[in-house]
Amino acid sequence: MTAQLSKKSEAWSARFNEPVSDLVKRYTASVFFDKRLAQVDIQGSLAHAEMLAYQNIISQQDHAEIKRGMTQILEEINAGKFEWLLDLEDVHLNIEKRLTELVGDAGKRLHTGRSRNDQVATDIRLYVRSEIDNIVGLLRDLRLALLDLAEQHADTILPGFTHMQVAQPITFGHHVLAYVEMFGRDAERMLDCRKRVNRLPLGAAALAGTTFPIDRERVAKTLGFDDVCHNSLDAVSDRDFAIEFCAAAALIMTHVSRMSEELVIWMSPRVGFIDIADRFCTGSSIMPQKKNPDVPELARGKTGRVNGHLIALLTLMKGQPLAYNKDNQEDKEPLFDTVDTVIDTLRIFADMASGITVKPEAMRAAALQGYATATDLADYLVKKGLPFRDAHEAVAHAVRACVDRGCDLSDLSLEELHVFSKLIEADIFEVLTLEGSVAARDHVGGTAPNQVRAAIARNRAQLA
Ligand code: ARG
Repeated sequence: MTAQLSKKSEAWSARFNEPVSDLVKRYTASVFFDKRLAQVDIQGSLAHAEMLAYQNIISQQDHAEIKRGMTQILEEINAGKFEWLLDLEDVHLNIEKRLTELVGDAGKRLHTGRSRNDQVATDIRLYVRSEIDNIVGLLRDLRLALLDLAEQHADTILPGFTHMQVAQPITFGHHVLAYVEMFGRDAERMLDCRKRVNRLPLGAAALAGTTFPIDRERVAKTLGFDDVCHNSLDAVSDRDFAIEFCAAAALIMTHVSRMSEELVIWMSPRVGFIDIADRFCTGSSIMPQKKNPDVPELARGKTGRVNGHLIALLTLMKGQPLAYNKDNQEDKEPLFDTVDTVIDTLRIFADMASGITVKPEAMRAAALQGYATATDLADYLVKKGLPFRDAHEAVAHAVRACVDRGCDLSDLSLEELHVFSKLIEADIFEVLTLEGSVAARDHVGGTAPNQVRAAIARNRAQLA
């Protein structure tokens, strides 16, 4: 009888007449990826056990035994000595089984008033919460590194582009600050998501709550949750908080990817605006002259998998009736890979920001091509009284003449400029310089060097 029982599924043997096949065992098991939740699983179990004891649902003696067993299990896991068994399906059953081996009946009482459904939902929330805090810290590091880069180049001029065509001169510091803004919003988004992550599912049990006199607020407080989940069916089944997290992560990667695209273009020898330190690049196995921007290219590529994980989780959720379904076990790998990818990427990018060498001459030369100060000439005419549309037309004629002659607007003499408008005077030459152009955009959010410095100071104060 005993031998027969042990051949059956370990956790619910009495109900079953035959063991699952090895293939099904492997198919349904999650232990090889969800063992990553071991720490938070134990943290959740200890909070639950403390509450059970406080409410006299288990004895103080049982609570002490559970704590002793869990301490040892944690040591075994940290030392790499814990034996994870596929037969025990997931992280929760592996730990509970070992606890029972170590402390006997007290271990068997831990699961009173609880189900793996509310247990796993709690674990994932604890996990996501701590990774949000890590990511917010890394976003801060990245922003600080970008602020240093922006500060070094508050006065460095390059062409700003629209449609990939030279548009108007800007400062490189200002360009870098655009990413500081994006990563700032990314951090805000993560912290906003954290509010909805930080609620306690435990107490929902399998789906309907429990008959034991539990104290959910007590467990929430122990675990640092702001509140409990207020509907047991919702608590065990929805993973919207993880989806939201993945959406915020996908936006981080999208911003990283846009920046990567620019780094790749800027480092192309045809553009030559920057160089990236060797430690972020690789060579070619066949072309000895090559130095490839592998890190930004890979980051751009890895954005695809993070975006994909978001879609995977949305799709995982969309067909599920209330309450818990095993589908939800599939939330973990996309979530874990999202975390790993975002964390590695942010760490590397914070380091790489200080490994970017800017080439101001190349940037300046590019800004001098493409009539980047044409808008400044039009604005000048408007300030002298010409309606903007007429000014736009006058400058279009001037640009046309320069294209024909192969020169820049600033190469035209005053007499030549008079052909296009009599309003133009000698003070125009100051306006047509790159420095004059950027310095004139002197308002909050503008590219003028003193605005760049003010924005850096504002950001530093926020991050202090
Ligand atoms: N491994 C499961 C998961 O990741 C734990 C919950 C299992 N609950 C159940 N009723 N089968 O979701």
